[in-house]
Amino acid sequence: MRYFTSANQLGSIDEALAAAKYIKDNPFADQELGRNKTLLMVFFNNSLRTRLSTQKAALNLGMNVIVLDVNQGAWKLETERGVVMDGDKSEHLLEAVPVMGSFCDIIGVRSFAGLTDRDYDYAETIFNQFVKYSGKPVFAMETATVHPLQAFADLITIEEHKTKARPKVVLTWAPHPKALPQAVPNSFAEWMRVADVDFVVTHPEGYELDPLFVGDARVEYDQRKAFEGADFIYAKNWSCPGVTNPADYGKILSKDMSWMVDSEHMAWTDNACFMHCLPVRRNMIVSDEVIESPRSLVIPEAANRVVSAQTVIREILKSL
Ligand code: CP
Repeated sequence: MRYFTSANQLGSIDEALAAAKYIKDNPFADQELGRNKTLLMVFFNNSLRTRLSTQKAALNLGMNVIVLDVNQGAWKLETERGVVMDGDKSEHLLEAVPVMGSFCDIIGVRSFAGLTDRDYDYAETIFNQFVKYSGKPVFAMETATVHPLQAFADLITIEEHKTKARPKVVLTWAPHPKALPQAVPNSFAEWMRVADVDFVVTHPEGYELDPLFVGDARVEYDQRKAFEGADFIYAKNWSCPGVTNPADYGKILSKDMSWMVDSEHMAWTDNACFMHCLPVRRNMIVSDEVIESPRSLVIPEAANRVVSAQTVIREILKSL
């Protein structure tokens, strides 16, 4: 596997889930696979879960791990080709990436969307430079448009907690004070579309996700209608994806607090479980009562990040 960004790179979804179950039941069975292999994790943005879970996954596989926080201690990196580097950036990604590649066997990259230039973000400019110039397999630890390790962990969590063969899963937009990228809802939509679930997306008008990810999934603008009969509520904020109006890309179009998931919202569902990728703003996205309720899955969901990361890294190691 040269790079990992999406659901179809792990074979069928059933094969991916079976591999994840094997990892969960046998977390230390493949220590020889990673022996004398090094994972380099490169962070252009902050992280708690991705940093810890991916490192733990690599250690479970017997690997060595190096972590680079690009904005803390490294040279400031230029990412645009052709610029005169007379500013504060001392090194170009075009040299830095192959150098990083020379120190490791696999690279994980976290590089969020800038939310100012849709074409730049949706071209995955930074991630693709790692794929092109590192000479090593690269996997997404949340890039400008995708967060596959999160979506895979979400799917594993749904699989573990579902009580129906084909549960209803609702992705709902919720308000947030800051403009956030679309990577989490993009990947969640992509993975839910290939999973055996009844998938519905609900958000205010203007927040339509890119068709590349949401495809022909049902979009319901009435949040209450969307929640009716739901088995899983997945809350997330995202800024305007700029699908219907490119000029609005990355903007906050609504802070409507009536979209926050509280007990009244959960009462519309079929006793649904609550999910969120974390970190979450309490009493903006979700009420204290809902996130602390026995139906909240946010902690097991985060714990499954080790399983999703380990499944992906194991597949990459097998392909080396
Ligand atoms: N969900 C998630 O990716 O968390 P972090 O941003 O803390 O890594």
